[in-house]
Amino acid sequence: MSETQEGYAIVVHGGVGSPRDYDDGCERAAGRAVEELAISADALEAAMAAVAEMEDDGRFNAGTGSVLCLDGATVEMDASIMDTRGRLGAVACVQGIKNPVLLARAVADTPHWLLAGDGANRFAAAIGHPLHHEISEHQRAAHDKLRRALAGSVPAMPGVDNKAFLRFWNYHNPADLPPSAACDTVGAVVRGPDGHFAVACSTGGSAPSLLGRVGDTPIIGAGFYAGPHGAVAATGIGEHIVRHLLASRVYGWIEDGMPLEQALKRGIDLFDPSISVGLIAVTKTEAAFQANRDMPRARIVKA
Ligand code: GLY
Repeated sequence: MSETQEGYAIVVHGGVGSPRDYDDGCERAAGRAVEELAISADALEAAMAAVAEMEDDGRFNAGTGSVLCLDGATVEMDASIMDTRGRLGAVACVQGIKNPVLLARAVADTPHWLLAGDGANRFAAAIGHPLHHEISEHQRAAHDKLRRALAGSVPAMPGVDNKAFLRFWNYHNPADLPPSAACDTVGAVVRGPDGHFAVACSTGGSAPSLLGRVGDTPIIGAGFYAGPHGAVAATGIGEHIVRHLLASRVYGWIEDGMPLEQALKRGIDLFDPSISVGLIAVTKTEAAFQANRDMPRARIVKA
């Protein structure tokens, strides 16, 4: 890692499967990362600023825009951060948290790396993290679309019978489904001016999902990874991504010297085309993204 390097690289994504119309939100997020680098020169602060911006946007499946769970009332979110200064933190299945990515950062200062469920929510209360309980029209519309999809014969989650969600229903309230698959995540990877790398990710999870479901986003090596050769973030259906430890594998190829575009393509090609998946990454010299569906994104590189 060079301590004299002045340039930086930022790549941001708004979730594979989300429309490119949302590129503007990714560009704003990348701009926030640039502003943060000007203030702190810290790659992790920049990645977190980008992700927090998208959590507050309301259109992305993260933070205030998170998909509703099948009961139409609960929102469960996951987030993670990691950098090459040794900071690692994640939260899983948190509810009512305004910015899960900032809570994940706070976990990195505890003796642990991952807090989940009620304990994570109690930790948020203990440190005074802001809450957010409103459900927007955008979230309601996405949920109605999902209910319609579950009523059909096409699996709302690839490879899973729609009826499985009713068979294993584990919400407090009874099922109220005539029985859009949603699975997007937001993420940012940054190479800072001092050569350090960072990654930050946040998601409202996949839809449809049972209560308590956790995907790849808070799982190190699956949804995210950062090391001395770069930083990688994944987006797509967590149940598939974890089976490949996707971020860690792509990082390994980068570490072995594979050109970044080739490493990202090899990562995407691990998946059947019916599985939506996307990747972003930065290395010492490159910054790139790839996906097998539309994926809103932004990239800023300063030489
Ligand atoms: N990639 C987000 C999730 O599966 O939860």
